[in-house]
Amino acid sequence: MLFRSMYSFKNIAIISVLAGILLGCGVRDSNDPGIEYAPAMYHSRAYEPLAQVTDATSDYFNSNTNNPYKMNMREPVKNTVKLRSYTANYSLTPNKDLYIYHFTKDSSGATNADKLVNPLAKSDAVIEEGKVLYGRYCQHCHGETGKGDGPVGVVFKGVPNYSGLKDRTEGSIFHTITFGKNRMMAHGSQVSVLNRWKIVQYVQTLQNQ
Ligand code: HEC
Repeated sequence: MLFRSMYSFKNIAIISVLAGILLGCGVRDSNDPGIEYAPAMYHSRAYEPLAQVTDATSDYFNSNTNNPYKMNMREPVKNTVKLRSYTANYSLTPNKDLYIYHFTKDSSGATNADKLVNPLAKSDAVIEEGKVLYGRYCQHCHGETGKGDGPVGVVFKGVPNYSGLKDRTEGSIFHTITFGKNRMMAHGSQVSVLNRWKIVQYVQTLQNQ
């Protein structure tokens, strides 16, 4: 008896789902999202940089139509230089600089990285900044003094003691931060180039303990 009633309940459920699908298949404007639950979650009231809804009567209108391309985002100021085309002399050759950061994740990139020179002159101020950044991005694994005994490192396992890695060049450390190494994940997307170099200076002080 129980079995039969469950069975018919199942049939009803299947029929309702099928009916729902059929009813939901009407032809409609492909730009119309249909009924939305909590639309304010999807449609920003604040200006979205790439919004291009130009119909001022639309519910979703939030473009600045006075701007070029009717986008909220403005074009970069004339003569703006892309970071990747930035030229500065870090006493490295060849010198279309920051180009040097195009080294790759693979081993040839790592070998080239060994030749990288820290563009920031060594100073207590830089080391101090590096220490703060290290506390933010590395310490939980590598530990306060770089022994690999941070609270996460203890659980994560396999975090080396920097003092056992005295042969690692500054370029190699920079490469490790940028791309990660074996079980350590990359931090290149989270830490800016110059901040990475600051951290390198601090890690070197831990290496030499
Ligand atoms: C999630 C934990 C974790 C975080 C966060 C982390 N590391 Fe590591 N790190 C590791 C592990 C694990 C290794 C060992 C990798 C291996 O197996 O060779 C390692 C290795 C290293 C090495 C040695 C690489 C070599 O040449 O053998 C350096 C240098 C290093 N990390 C620097 C950093 C710096 C600087 C940061 C912060 C920007 C950082 N790590 C953040 C886990 C971490």
